[in-house]
This record gives sequence, C-alpha cells and structure tokens, in this order.
Amino acid sequence: MKILITGGAGFVGSSLAISLKMNYPHYEVFALDNLKRRGSELNISRLKKHGVEFVHGDIRNKEDFDAIPAVDTVIEASAEPSVLAGLDGTPDYLINTNLVGTVNCLNYALKHKAGFIFLSTSRVYPIKTIETLNFVEEETRFALSDEQPVPGVSSKGIAEDFPLNGARSLYGTTKLASELIIQEYNEFYNLKTVINRCGVITGPWQMGKVDQGVMVLWIAK
Ligand SMILES: NC(=O)c1ccc[n+]([C@@H]2O[C@H](COP(=O)([O-])OP(=O)(O)OC[C@H]3O[C@@H](n4cnc5c(N)ncnc54)[C@H](O)[C@@H]3O)[C@@H](O)[C@H]2O)c1
Repeated sequence: MKILITGGAGFVGSSLAISLKMNYPHYEVFALDNLKRRGSELNISRLKKHGVEFVHGDIRNKEDFDAIPAVDTVIEASAEPSVLAGLDGTPDYLINTNLVGTVNCLNYALKHKAGFIFLSTSRVYPIKTIETLNFVEEETRFALSDEQPVPGVSSKGIAEDFPLNGARSLYGTTKLASELIIQEYNEFYNLKTVINRCGVITGPWQMGKVDQGVMVLWIAK
C-alpha cells in the first residue's frame, strides 16, 4: 500500500502520516508539502524518524507530482486553512491552493486510479443561517436545541442536509467547490472518493495561530 498525503507536514497530515506508519509499518507513506505554514518545517524530522518520505512540493504545480510514484490512496490534507484568508481582497493563494490545487490532486489520483480522501470543513455551512439557530445554555456549554428554524440540525449537531445557500467565507467556498468537483469525479470518472467535513481539530504539533488552531494557541498563551 502506497499513500500520498498532501499537506503532509501540516498538523493533520503529519499526524495521519505518522500514525499510519506506526500502525502499518509496511505501508509506504509520502508527505508532500510546500511548507507555507510556519512551523510545518518542524515536522519534517518527525516524519523522517517514523519512515515517512517527505517531498517538498506545491499542489498548485502539476509537475511537482512527478516526484511521487504511483500510489493507491491520496489524502488531500493541504490547504490555506484560515477562515479569514482572502477576506482582505487577495484570494489568489487560497483559490489556487484550495480549489485549483485540489483539482491537481484529483487528476493525479485519477491518473493512478487511486482512492481519494478529502479533508473538508464544517465551514461549508453558511454563516447567517448558523446565526439563526436556537441554543440552550447548559451548565458548562451552549448546546443546540431540537427545535430549529431549518432542516439538518438538532441537539445532535449539524448534518449534511443543512441548507447550503448563503455566504460561508472564501475558505469554506473553496472547500465546497472542491467537494462538488470531487462528486463529479466520483460519478463520471468512477474515482473512489471520501469527503470528510471536519471542524476545530486540535492536538499536539498544531502550530496554532489566531485564525487557525485557536485552541492550541489559547492553551500555549
Ligand atoms: N484543523 C482543523 O481544525 C480543521 C478543520 C476542518 C478542516 N481542516 C482541513 O484539514 C486539512 C489540514 O488542516 P491542518 O489543520 O492540518 O492545517 P495545517 O496548516 O497545519 O496543514 C496544511 C499544510 O498544507 C501545506 N500547504 C499549504 N499550501 C500548500 C500548497 N499549495 N501545496 C502544498 N502544501 C501546501 C502547509 O504548509 C501545511 O503544512 C486542511 O484541508 C484543512 O482545511 C482542518
């Protein structure tokens, strides 16, 4: 089994790469990363120590995939992951990485008939609709109520049938746009795909900053 993890020096990517190698030592795991995120470079020695092969590359450049052999599975965990990215009027890096780069990853997976796992986000759900939701105040937290003005939400949380109309941040939009393209590759090119909408993941080796990884940053401060 050969696995390519894009964003493999990032928090999620490196955690996955190392745990895959620890659980399945015979797997060959490649971590491709352009080291845009400050601190990701600190993960390179950890990856190497666990037998993960680090490849310095950028998913925006199709040629950078030439350095990787054919793999069985691609885990797309690279991103500009900040919800605030692009809101200052400069969305190019965000769109070119989170959307165009994801398409490059998909085409690489298609070329090798590899399975494709995408790290998406709960940020695909529109901000203003979320703001209409009913909460109850419990002893230690606010919890979603069962009575709600829209479908797809209950005390169990938000589900895939939550309405998707409305603005959600440029970050969330690049992720939703990628999800739509992934579904087309699944349907029309028979690519095996998984879309995993994650939210507020945190833990050791996350290089937290104000706009991403806030839990770790908060604890560090
Ligand atoms: N951490 C969370 O709470 C969370 C929540 C929902 C979704 N996600 C998604 O999970 C994935 C991983 O997030 P993370 O928390 O590990 O973020 P991270 O910033 O730690 O990791 C992303 C990695 O991608 C790399 N990268 C950025 N642009 C690249 C490019 N053009 N080419 C190659 N590599 C590039 C960065 O250098 C970084 O190492 C992302 O897709 C993110 O959107 C994360």
